[in-house]
Amino acid sequence: MRVIDTVAEMQQQANQWRREGLVIGFVPTMGYLHQGHLELMRCAKSKSDRVVVSIFVNPTQFAPGEDFERYPRDLERDMELLRSVGVDAVFAPAVADMYPEGYQTYVEVEEVTRPLCGAKRPGHFRGVTTVVAKLFHIVKPHLAVFGEKDYQQLLTIRRMVRDLAMDVDIIGHPIVREPDGLAMSSRNVYLSEGERHEALLLSQALAEASRLVDAGERTAAALVSAAQRVLERGSRVRIDYAELRDAETLQEMDTLDRPGVLALAAYVGKARLIDNAVLRP
Ligand code: PAF
Repeated sequence: MRVIDTVAEMQQQANQWRREGLVIGFVPTMGYLHQGHLELMRCAKSKSDRVVVSIFVNPTQFAPGEDFERYPRDLERDMELLRSVGVDAVFAPAVADMYPEGYQTYVEVEEVTRPLCGAKRPGHFRGVTTVVAKLFHIVKPHLAVFGEKDYQQLLTIRRMVRDLAMDVDIIGHPIVREPDGLAMSSRNVYLSEGERHEALLLSQALAEASRLVDAGERTAAALVSAAQRVLERGSRVRIDYAELRDAETLQEMDTLDRPGVLALAAYVGKARLIDNAVLRP
């Protein structure tokens, strides 16, 4: 596995692979890898000749006061995991290489970034699209794999790629969960034992809403309230949002007459967790 830490070196490697006619698959991450990330890498591996994983905690997608400084990092452990999956190259640049002095170029996707996390974390998606666009220029992938846990991020990146005619195939991978239902996330490390237990309420809230859909419920407000009631059982859970929105556009919906995404964000202790389920009428 090649470990590459400069933009120039990564571009050279990507150019060489492209000259050799090899298909490059890419998984961008912020490190502190878990099984969910490894599934994305296995997916990329099954569809490409060379897999690149980036590890970069991107400062521009964290608002002031968020967890940029304390975001968990463990490069040694990450390298072991990457080797175990058979990744070909890891790209782990320094902040100064990605955002050199005088940096002033940003990519912004409009409508789809407005609700949900976009409303709660101003500037977040601007940081995500900027770094992902830049990583695409550096890694030059034919395809890139993103997790559906970050549902709004996935839609935003698909929109950016379509709007800017980026020649990258975007592949969404289903949410990877712990055996008890908790969606895998690097931020789960923030949870104490008691909080970890209450964090299960997110997936339980989604399951309750799905159950109601199966029983014939179609009113968005009823589905959202049912999910909220489950979350409210947790004394350490503070709901950031719980909304049902059109699964393709993220526009509001009153009735589940087409696929909708029930998107949840909640603080459990200090950890802000997100989860979602696509509900189909
Ligand atoms: O999902 C993430 O880990 C990040 O938002 C990403 C896509 C690596 C961009 O920094």
